[in-house]
Amino acid sequence: MPYTRKLDVLIIGSGGAGLTLALKLAEQHIAVAVLSKFALTSSSTYYAQGGISAVFDAEDSIESHIEDTLDAGAGLCNPDIVRLTVTQGKNSIEWLRTQGVVFTEEENASGQTQLHLNREGGHSHRRVVHSDDATGKAVSLSLIERAQQHPNIQLLEHHNVVELITAATDDANGKRIIGAYVLDSQENKVKTFAAKIVVLATGGANMAYIYSTNPHSSTGDGIALAWRAGCRISNMEFMQFHPTCLYHPEARTFLISEALRGEGAKLVLKDGSSFMEKFDARGELAPRDIVARAIDHEMKKRGIDCVYLDISHKPADFIREHFPTIYQQCLDYGIDITQQPIPVVPAAHYTCGGVLTDDCARTDISHLYAIGEVACTGLHGANRMASNSLLECLVFADRACADILQQLATIASIPTIRDWDESQVIDSDEEVVVAHNWSELRHFMWDYVGIVRTDKRLNRALSRVELLKKEIAEYYGHFRVTSDLLELRNLVIVAELIIRCAQQRKESRGLHYTLDYPELNQSTPPKDTILTPHR
Ligand code: FAD
Ligand code: SIN
Repeated sequence: MPYTRKLDVLIIGSGGAGLTLALKLAEQHIAVAVLSKFALTSSSTYYAQGGISAVFDAEDSIESHIEDTLDAGAGLCNPDIVRLTVTQGKNSIEWLRTQGVVFTEEENASGQTQLHLNREGGHSHRRVVHSDDATGKAVSLSLIERAQQHPNIQLLEHHNVVELITAATDDANGKRIIGAYVLDSQENKVKTFAAKIVVLATGGANMAYIYSTNPHSSTGDGIALAWRAGCRISNMEFMQFHPTCLYHPEARTFLISEALRGEGAKLVLKDGSSFMEKFDARGELAPRDIVARAIDHEMKKRGIDCVYLDISHKPADFIREHFPTIYQQCLDYGIDITQQPIPVVPAAHYTCGGVLTDDCARTDISHLYAIGEVACTGLHGANRMASNSLLECLVFADRACADILQQLATIASIPTIRDWDESQVIDSDEEVVVAHNWSELRHFMWDYVGIVRTDKRLNRALSRVELLKKEIAEYYGHFRVTSDLLELRNLVIVAELIIRCAQQRKESRGLHYTLDYPELNQSTPPKDTILTPHR
């Protein structure tokens, strides 16, 4: 039985970016549907720990936040985008409070209650607003609750977008979005969603690596969907590795927040000796690329499996009060962080590149927007500063909302779309191939396209990607789609985009470090890497 749903706005993703936009549009009486490929909480947003950067401290200033962001971005941030984002910090926090998000507070010297601010790497001031050490959970649950109550918002879990649908136009872009094919994985059926506006809010691509701090949902789907539809993709070489992910056989993805280092935690070797001072005068609070590379260097030089993060010199009550989630999780794994150092390793954490967008979150395709981690707005440049990501989600959801309201007024009707055709495919008889290819891809990306790269390693990775792409295309052409197959098909494209961007950058800058070109190229102005699909 054919199934077509007609909508004004289709938002793909139920993280901070997607839900903020949904709530803002709904307040303007626009009906929206929000898709999530798994449960609504399966997003990076839910797992965010440290917080959201915004200038609240009397000693701090917007100019200082801008300067720190530009400095972390290693010459590649777009200064206009940085300014417009940073100046919305306070408003964004206030908006979240109106949605019921409760942030951690403290009493100041004159007995007044004020927001407690964390400090993180790259920030020259305390500037990170947070809800203990589980900020993302507080944000996510509040926004989900509001969205569930709103009559203009429809939330659809276990809906995985297979492909975007476009139509030819006469304008400069040559294409406009008209909807998406979506796998309802509970009914096991591909449905057609026709929409005037489609928004990608699908998060990052960090599952391209075997070690990642991200939930399973971060398979770069939005980036691959946009690329196949004809959008330019930018700066994918800048994959951010968080320096401190818990090293424990049963806890591959548990993050140990940078906020611990903000409160004085030291990175040490097994014998207790510190090493960060050899790499940067800011020590543990240097930007992430520097800290992750320093740890990688020590691990490779010494042949060790991990380093340690030690906060046990702080009073036990302070640790339990400030970091209740991390304290409890580590305790569950047998590590009492008030007494012992925490074994840590770097892991893939954030995708600085993505779908190229303008300052209103518009992509190259008319009426297709991208917001949040899937987008490359120019805010992060070659290295995102801690806690600037949730801020970007909030600010660009707001900017997309304003633009969408204007665009909607100009779109007359919702187009008719042909249903998904699966008459030529059968159920898979070899699911094991998908699982095997997933694992192979994530391993070679870690080994060859990780924290330290070389031309030879990148070439090796690319030839493996090409083989996998062929195999996956054949599989996709013969068998009915499943969620795992869709993700693998997207992940292999994203891996190729990361490698191709990395191959184009003949220097080391920010998160991209290569032994073949270990210096910054200062002979020409810094340039984004932009890949254009065949149209
Ligand atoms: P996400 O929150 O990842 O949401 C993506 C959504 O898209 C999900 O609902 C997913 O199911 C859906 N989706 C994906 N593909 C499809 C598809 N094909 N079909 C349908 N739906 C799809 N940043 C900060 O600023 N401060 C922090 O303290 C912080 N801590 C972090 C801690 C951890 C452990 C992690 C992993 C990240 C952290 N970050 C932090 C980064 C930040 O959380 C993310 O960049 C941000 O939350 C991304 O939000 P988003 O809405 O763009 O994407
Ligand atoms: C953290 O808490 O260390 C994560 C912060 C971020 O990724 O911005």
